[in-house]
Amino acid sequence: MNILVTGGAGYIGSITTIALIAAGHRPVILDNLHNASAGVIERIAEVAGTRPAFVHGDIRDRALLDALLVREQIDAVIHFAGLKAVGESVAQPLSYFDNNVHGTLVLLAAMQAAGVRTLVFSSSATVYGDAPELPLREDAPTSATNPYGRSKLMVEQVLADLARSDPAWSLTALRYFNPVGAHPSGRLGEDPQGVPNNLMPYIAQVAVGRREFLSIYGDDYPTPDGTGVRDYIHVMDLADGHLAALDHGHGRPGLHVFNLGTGAGVSVREMLAAFGAACGHALPHRIVARRPGDVAACWADPTRAREVLGWQASRDLRTMCEDSWRWQSNNPRGYAA
Ligand code: NAD
Ligand code: WQD
Repeated sequence: MNILVTGGAGYIGSITTIALIAAGHRPVILDNLHNASAGVIERIAEVAGTRPAFVHGDIRDRALLDALLVREQIDAVIHFAGLKAVGESVAQPLSYFDNNVHGTLVLLAAMQAAGVRTLVFSSSATVYGDAPELPLREDAPTSATNPYGRSKLMVEQVLADLARSDPAWSLTALRYFNPVGAHPSGRLGEDPQGVPNNLMPYIAQVAVGRREFLSIYGDDYPTPDGTGVRDYIHVMDLADGHLAALDHGHGRPGLHVFNLGTGAGVSVREMLAAFGAACGHALPHRIVARRPGDVAACWADPTRAREVLGWQASRDLRTMCEDSWRWQSNNPRGYAA
């Protein structure tokens, strides 16, 4: 299939693009490079053996989308493009609603006009809000605790209404838990601008000497070792999940919602120890105050994806850390190096 990959120069999109090429699809990347570097396209070409088509542009540009969907004879869209920093979304809610919600509306309207009716959307476990019960199943109540989360929830609601409006649509929302790791080649991985917000990229920068120590945000949570527990999923498993969702969704009407997680929780201390083992030295850390808005623990029930998509995560914590370390140590300054 000819697949439009919005945000395909980003962390998850670039690695999914490689998986699409390996599966025989023809990806076309649309990315405004707000949070990515053009050099990523070269890296994809190098690893995949085929250069994906790349359009430097914005999902909010309706004229561009209209032309692109027709010219490239797009069959389906995987929609990664968006902004994803929770703290920034609190400070700049309008740009989050503009990029994530308005951007998706423009994309969906262009798809409707062009007769492209298959979409796989990057949603997030953040739509479960402060979940009262674990593990999280797809039918758990949803809520938002910040503008970023609200933007994902709003898009899911739009998708539900759209699916109800016309049975031609096949819309899939994938709720990612905590994506980590890198492509095993060490050529593609996560390259956050500025100080990393998320645990694994922060630890990786401590390991490579870019940051002095990890601040552990609280060790008095009601968890086995007192630190926060999350469901970390290898980005390669996530990429495979997109292929499975695409195969399942194409030609199957409705809104399909799946958790993409491992089903297992890992604490901050466990992650730090596993990364230390992967890089070969213990990593300095300090216990600091809890981060406002954090939950103690969050992990998925991945049963539906296993039963319906035939997909499950297969890469363990050690592989996540080893692949992340290979990427970080080979590219200490990310794509800028
Ligand atoms: P990323 O920032 O690396 O990738 C997003 C890409 O979209 C970037 O390359 C950026 O330049 C591009 N982009 C942003 N706005 C755009 C626009 N208006 N038009 C065109 N391109 C635009 O992020 P990622 O980690 O790869 O995340 C991909 C998607 O998955 C996002 O929608 C994110 O919200 C979602 N998600 C990510 C995580 C995570 O922890 N990484 C977790 C759950 C969900
Ligand atoms: C994981 C654990 C922290 C950094 C966020 C978004 C969520 C989703 C994924 C997109 C927590 C602890 C972290 C540090 C630490 N994104 N930590 N020191 O909070 O589960 O989810 O990213 O959809 O929406 O909220 O991930 O990696 O930030 O934190 O101790 O320097 O690591 O307290 O327990 P989180 P995270």
